[in-house]
Amino acid sequence: MEKTLLIIKPDAVERKLVGEIIQRVERKGLEIKALKMEKISLEKAENHYIVHKGKEFYSNLINFITSGPLVLIVLEGKDCIKIVRNMAGSTSAVEAMPGTIRGDFSTDMLENIVHTSDSSESSEREIKNFFKNL
Ligand code: CMP
Repeated sequence: MEKTLLIIKPDAVERKLVGEIIQRVERKGLEIKALKMEKISLEKAENHYIVHKGKEFYSNLINFITSGPLVLIVLEGKDCIKIVRNMAGSTSAVEAMPGTIRGDFSTDMLENIVHTSDSSESSEREIKNFFKNL
């Protein structure tokens, strides 16, 4: 069965949106296989966002993602990678549609509430970075 990584980012944790986001994915019918709260190390943050290294927003991204605790969730379900990406909405707050997580809760490109894996290769790599035993 397909798995994906959903990260509830520090902005959402601070704004007390954790329950709201977990409720959305549970009500959709996805299964939570693993869940933990963690303030991640610089090393894990750099591994996670390796594909963005060199981009102009990279250092802001690393500072943001290590600024406070995250909630890291492994979800499982048929086609869950695409399903959770659709639920998250566009990275750009301007383009994210109402009804999506970012569309409902974010106005910013960087501080955009959640991260979700974009492919099965990324999901495998990202889950391994945070959950050694899965
Ligand atoms: P995420 O889905 O976690 O993947 C990469 C992250 O980089 C993205 O969400 C945003 O938090 C951030 N990001 C992507 N593009 C930009 C941008 N143009 N400016 C600022 N931050 C960005």
